[in-house]
Amino acid sequence: MNSIKIFSPATVANLVCGFDVIGLALDFPKDEIFLSKSNRPGIRINKIYGTSLPNDPKKNVVFNALQSLLRKYQQKKEKNNIGFEIELIKNIHPGSGIGSSAASSAGVVYGANVLLGNPFNTMQLIRFAMEGERVASGTAHADNVAPAIMGGMTLVRSYKPLDITKLHTPKELWVSIIHPQIEIKTSDAREILKKKILMTDAIQQWGNIGALVAGLYQENYRLISRSLEDVIVEPIRAVLIPAFYELKIKCKEIGALGGGISGSGPSVFMLSRGTYVAQKVTEMMNRIYSTLKVDYKTYTSPINQQGVKWSEIE
Ligand code: HSE
Repeated sequence: MNSIKIFSPATVANLVCGFDVIGLALDFPKDEIFLSKSNRPGIRINKIYGTSLPNDPKKNVVFNALQSLLRKYQQKKEKNNIGFEIELIKNIHPGSGIGSSAASSAGVVYGANVLLGNPFNTMQLIRFAMEGERVASGTAHADNVAPAIMGGMTLVRSYKPLDITKLHTPKELWVSIIHPQIEIKTSDAREILKKKILMTDAIQQWGNIGALVAGLYQENYRLISRSLEDVIVEPIRAVLIPAFYELKIKCKEIGALGGGISGSGPSVFMLSRGTYVAQKVTEMMNRIYSTLKVDYKTYTSPINQQGVKWSEIE
């Protein structure tokens, strides 16, 4: 088998209190990638639908992620006559805050591993995909690529060494997303954050992260709701997103468990218990944004348990 089709999911990073450590995968939207192995060395992106990507390979997430995998493979197997041909269908808009770069990076490294006969394990694939994130945001964070590859909800316990675990997802958890079509660069949204935080804020934050994880395992939606609080990052980034607090307050009033900025924004997400409430929350997001002069898109999705997957090309 030399060619496959890959489906790579959108992801929500941070989950309010878990900056750079917690993330989840969505069922919808998904990128589609056609990947072929060839005997011609090099990585070639032949077609991109839905967006344009930088021509400079050093700024291209797909190139960087796949190149790091290929380099390791060639060291291991001493084979130099391997290359990849890629076609990308970007359904996840770059710069949306729902893991567009992560979907591309995770998708290509996962697919390349399949085509090479699975020489790498999950943690190695996450590490390669993080090289894509390094070019996209200036930091090799794993809170989007980990759920994209592993599915469900994931927790990065440590970056050095890389230690990531999959968390339990309560069955009825749904996600509503609004993507305001404004640009927020992850690198800029990281630049404005404080480099040092107060001990009192840290105490509140790790209390919330611990309780969120406990709430997920207990399927205790009230505890999840109380834990969706961020005293460190959200107060600084919220100003970048039109009507952010209105979205939060009104969505919670009609039953959302809570939510916040998806990754570094501009998307905002809300968690709800069950489809019915999640649909209502998405409608509320639509209603609030329909009064603003900002284009937007909304999604309602369950949590994707499988992560990136592949199929044969018919
Ligand atoms: N954890 C990262 C951040 C996610 O918030 O900067 C970026 O998508």
